[in-house]
Amino acid sequence: MTNQRPWTARVLTLFPEMFPGPLGQSLAGKALEKGLWRLETSDIRSFATDKHRTVDDTPFGGGAGMVMRPDVVDAALEAATQDGLGPAIYLTPRGQRVEQALVRDWAAGPGLVLVCGRYEGLDERVIEARGLLEISLGDIVLSGGEPAALAVIDACVRLLPGVMGAEETLEEESFERGLLEYPHYTRPAEWQGRTVPEVLLSGHHEKIKAWRLSQAEAATKLRRPDLWTAYEKQRPQVLGNKSSRRKED
Ligand SMILES: C[S@@+](CC[C@H](N)C(=O)[O-])C[C@H]1O[C@@H](n2cnc3c(N)ncnc32)[C@H](O)[C@@H]1O
Repeated sequence: MTNQRPWTARVLTLFPEMFPGPLGQSLAGKALEKGLWRLETSDIRSFATDKHRTVDDTPFGGGAGMVMRPDVVDAALEAATQDGLGPAIYLTPRGQRVEQALVRDWAAGPGLVLVCGRYEGLDERVIEARGLLEISLGDIVLSGGEPAALAVIDACVRLLPGVMGAEETLEEESFERGLLEYPHYTRPAEWQGRTVPEVLLSGHHEKIKAWRLSQAEAATKLRRPDLWTAYEKQRPQVLGNKSSRRKED
């Protein structure tokens, strides 16, 4: 279909001017210009109904900070999900940690609705009522959901068809095989007395492939025992045979 909507990121935020930000540059920016994906922002404040355009209030039970009102966020979500775009995600440190398998699923779908919290976050009832998928960027506390939304969108966009060049392959990249990636080297062959592993200069593709797999496995075992345990159970016998020339700038 020619007029099918491209993959769409719809971001609900109190700071729409933060977008596209870094997504307007490099790979994602070029793809955005080409219409390979679409970015829409919705200003949550425009759904406030009082004359002061209030979006937050003090927490019941007391305590520091402010909480984003459920009625205002709900109205923003109602407008954002009318055409069925989803899943709808709330970015929060209380959520499931984002991982590549989730990103792959999202990139394969029509797009995402992303709700960026501020202050102490959203009133719990709107999260429940809207069935928002709670996703965390990691065990850190950001001052708002926007940087997390930018990261999630970036991770999805680079997987969309046509965004990376045809000659590139993602299959050896970190997490794609349940492993971290092997280390990379480029010219000069000797730098500050440090040399490049001999095998990489050999031109022997099978040996290079085997070396890279062993390096990927060693790094994963050392750095990410959690990934290693899962990988060991279904360890592949051979690596895929495409090379991975990358065009990212
Ligand atoms: C200051 S934080 C609120 C932190 C919250 N009171 C807590 O302790 O869980 C404000 C907003 O930043 C976003 N945020 C902060 N850390 C995040 C993370 N690790 N992943 C995703 N979003 C995050 C969320 O949208 C959150 O509502």
